[in-house]
Amino acid sequence: MSRLVVVSNRVALPGASQNGGLATALDAALKETGGLWFGWSGKVARAHSGEVHHQQADGIEYLTVDLSREDYEGYYNGFSNRTLWPLLHFRLDLVDYNALTQAAYRGVNALFAEKLSKELRDDDIVWVQDYHLFPLAQELRKRGVRARIGFFLHVPFPSADIVAGLPHHEKTFGALSSYDLVGFQTERDLERFQDYIRLFRGGQVAAQGDLRDHDGRRFSAAAFPIGIDAGVIESLAETASRSATTKRMQASLNGRALAIGVDRLDYSKGLPERFRAIQRFFERHADQRGKMTYLQIAPVSRGGVASYRTLRRELEQYAGHINGAHAEPDWTPVRYVNRTYPHPALTGFYRLSRMALVTPLRDGMNLVAKEYVAAQDGDDPGALVLSIFAGAARELDGALLVNPFDSDGVADAIAAAMAMPREARRERWQSMITRIREYDIHAWRKDFLSRLAATRN
Ligand code: G6P
Repeated sequence: MSRLVVVSNRVALPGASQNGGLATALDAALKETGGLWFGWSGKVARAHSGEVHHQQADGIEYLTVDLSREDYEGYYNGFSNRTLWPLLHFRLDLVDYNALTQAAYRGVNALFAEKLSKELRDDDIVWVQDYHLFPLAQELRKRGVRARIGFFLHVPFPSADIVAGLPHHEKTFGALSSYDLVGFQTERDLERFQDYIRLFRGGQVAAQGDLRDHDGRRFSAAAFPIGIDAGVIESLAETASRSATTKRMQASLNGRALAIGVDRLDYSKGLPERFRAIQRFFERHADQRGKMTYLQIAPVSRGGVASYRTLRRELEQYAGHINGAHAEPDWTPVRYVNRTYPHPALTGFYRLSRMALVTPLRDGMNLVAKEYVAAQDGDDPGALVLSIFAGAARELDGALLVNPFDSDGVADAIAAAMAMPREARRERWQSMITRIREYDIHAWRKDFLSRLAATRN
């Protein structure tokens, strides 16, 4: 069996407390083949980029590289998070293009390729994750690497015209044809990528997702909707339903229904729009005042980028505003928390909730939606209010689908979820959980890797 090499900006080092489902799935695959995980060390070095750290655990080798302050600013805060992230989430208005950060991004990819190429063997299978590393295969090929290389994009791929709005877009997105297989979350993302290759790269789309770039280079692209570790979430939730944390939370509700939202504090998640929908819910459905509490858990993210700091201030004001306008001495409509909670606590909150609000303006997949469903008690499950712009909406047909920009529509969906009889909730849940169990995170990774192994070398 070929050795698997995973490359990602963040590496889930052994012993880290917050490793999620993706890390678990990749760990399992790496263990099977005595694999290697390569990426940024998470450290900003005093002097130069490039110091390499080795670590080994459970038959997996970890190789991580330090970045200088300048590279971290240019590659991570700069081009990855101020340029590519908004672009990929359809937000040309927030794109900050800067030739210097683009050069730093390219430079860090070249540095990673320099270090990694020395470790690679021709029969390795290399799997690169996410938008921080678009040019990595191109840089590896320049250094003579012949191994198969696949790429998976965890975030959306936007319309071709949006991509084309990025100055020198071909330098970044043209590099994707150096991969043997490029994976997307949904068929829609795949179609938009194919449009880009045809319309802005002079390429062609052949049968079975095979693509040909303008220079004749052939590569494959397909959709692989990422899943969760359904079995693990289900059993965590079952245990959590009896935990002290869950019981304390339940007692604090005084018999009121709980609605929950869990999102990184990111403008793609549609949080101000969601707060507005909550406000509209209490205005349009005045009989519901005092009957529901909304808990928003929003861990702070990417504080080095100004748009994230602005959003944080906006949400603090908004939560205060709604509570000021609607609270009673013994009832607070919105509980707003910036802390991160580990899965054992989160799954307990999910199971306790009457509904989850997952209303991003754009999202590659959104795993909170899937985890919420998996955490429910099948006998009396909660409802899922889900944005049509989350990748998950393509699979979770039992959700109440909403347009996150339509605050009255979302408010009415919240009212519908409050009023939904148990039988209807069960039926919707059943169709969602079946899909989630069937194509879980392990099925996802096996699907991708077998497709990659089948591409020619
Ligand atoms: C998204 C991206 C990931 C990223 C995560 C957290 O899910 O797709 O690649 O790791 O956000 O963001 P951060 O910038 O903290 O790594």
